[in-house]
Amino acid sequence: MTMTYTEALDILTNQDQAHLLAFWEQLDEAQQQALLMQIEEIDFSEIDRMRVALKQQAEAATAGQGAFEPAPVLTLEEAGDPAVRELGHRALRSGKVGVLLVAGGQGSRLGYDGPKGCYEIGPISKAPLFEIHSRKILALERQYETEVPFYVMTSEANDAPTRAFFELHDYFGLTPARVIFFQQGMWPGLDPDGNLLLDRPDHIFVSPDGHGGILSALRNRGVLEDMADRGLNALFYFQVDNPLVEIADPDFLGQHFANEAEISVKVCAKRDASEGLGMLVTREGHTEIIEYSDLTDAQKAERRPDGQFRLLYGSVAIHIFTFGFLKREADEALPLHVAHKQIPYCDATGAILKPDTPNAYKFEKFIFDVLPDAERSLNVEFARAEEFSPVKNAEGNDSPATTRRDMVAKFARWFDACGVRVPRDADGTPTVKIEIDPCYALNVDDLKAKLPADFKIEGDVLLQA
Ligand code: UD1
Repeated sequence: MTMTYTEALDILTNQDQAHLLAFWEQLDEAQQQALLMQIEEIDFSEIDRMRVALKQQAEAATAGQGAFEPAPVLTLEEAGDPAVRELGHRALRSGKVGVLLVAGGQGSRLGYDGPKGCYEIGPISKAPLFEIHSRKILALERQYETEVPFYVMTSEANDAPTRAFFELHDYFGLTPARVIFFQQGMWPGLDPDGNLLLDRPDHIFVSPDGHGGILSALRNRGVLEDMADRGLNALFYFQVDNPLVEIADPDFLGQHFANEAEISVKVCAKRDASEGLGMLVTREGHTEIIEYSDLTDAQKAERRPDGQFRLLYGSVAIHIFTFGFLKREADEALPLHVAHKQIPYCDATGAILKPDTPNAYKFEKFIFDVLPDAERSLNVEFARAEEFSPVKNAEGNDSPATTRRDMVAKFARWFDACGVRVPRDADGTPTVKIEIDPCYALNVDDLKAKLPADFKIEGDVLLQA
């Protein structure tokens, strides 16, 4: 039973937020019920934390201040030990590895209407991001004769279309019982005075609580129990926008286990001073990630005597968590990050106004804020050309065009390694499109084993299982 109007009014009056019921009399019964449900879900102790975060932000306390050092990193040269990789193979064969995808974001920069995972990125096949990720997981299940549960975090706005998309495409070959969707929480925004806002006469403005919301969502939605029931001990975590990601790759898993880390983080050298990567640092003996927006331009551009950036290695949000650590952290309150945004709101007459400049604040939790809590963590360098080319913007860097280019370039290098000539222009860019379905070959060794001896590239190549 939802709370009554009187109960809601009581709570809101106590919190000085009775304006949320200003249009009550004008709402129909369904709208009134929906509004009451929203009010019931508000956790006012969280709102108090938001107000504190807002105040601290106004006093300019940012994560980029104070003393910190660049964090140690296991570099590419140091990685690649076959015995370590074997630990990864073993973990996969044992069926104790799950995959965790965060796909609850709003993808506003790309300007794509719908869950970002539905965006068609395959250079030839036009396979959507969700298909590419799913086919990698299916390929792992087949290769290792194992089960790899796939946990997909959605949010209120994209949960139904995401589920419908998987259903429509028969889960891209995966077993539906091993694809587990769960919704992250939604949080109200606040105006500069710390008040909640109506974005419609019948609706309080809310937005996803950040990818860090995964922790409370895992706990509140029963996902931790599901993971325990399946006997998982490691979760590979990644973001929806990067089709180059090597899901649950055995080297990374092996390094995670060999180092007995609670969380492992893939890192790469930033492209330039301004690239939007969270930077890996150590502070008072703990590793942490400082988000790019919390660093000054001078900090981002600072160089060592050898000319290299002082803060060189950034996180691209590819992690491995041990299950026990996730479970422990699910009970911790993560810090809040504040963003000044343009949020639609109702004026006194109930008209909806869309401001042109930021007028209110959104709050988010970031998953990487668990790092300082880990007893042991590990940072592992990867080759960005092989594993990272996200779709974030409509044009320019990190756009569909650069992602497709980087996918083709990666597959072209696989053909090079197989001794197959790839037609290229003077700059070395392939002049044909190449795409390989993960279920045909998940890596260069698979391709070597599968490719007919007389294979030649004469035009675009799409290899599908
Ligand atoms: C993010 C990271 C940045 C990293 C970069 C690499 C943050 C704050 N920044 O930046 O450190 O170097 O990616 O690509 O994480 N998501 C949710 N729920 C939310 C918000 C986001 O599930 O409430 C998911 C999105 O669906 C997406 C991912 O988190 O898969 C990243 O979100 P996005 O807003 O694109 O982060 P970036 O600013 O690109």
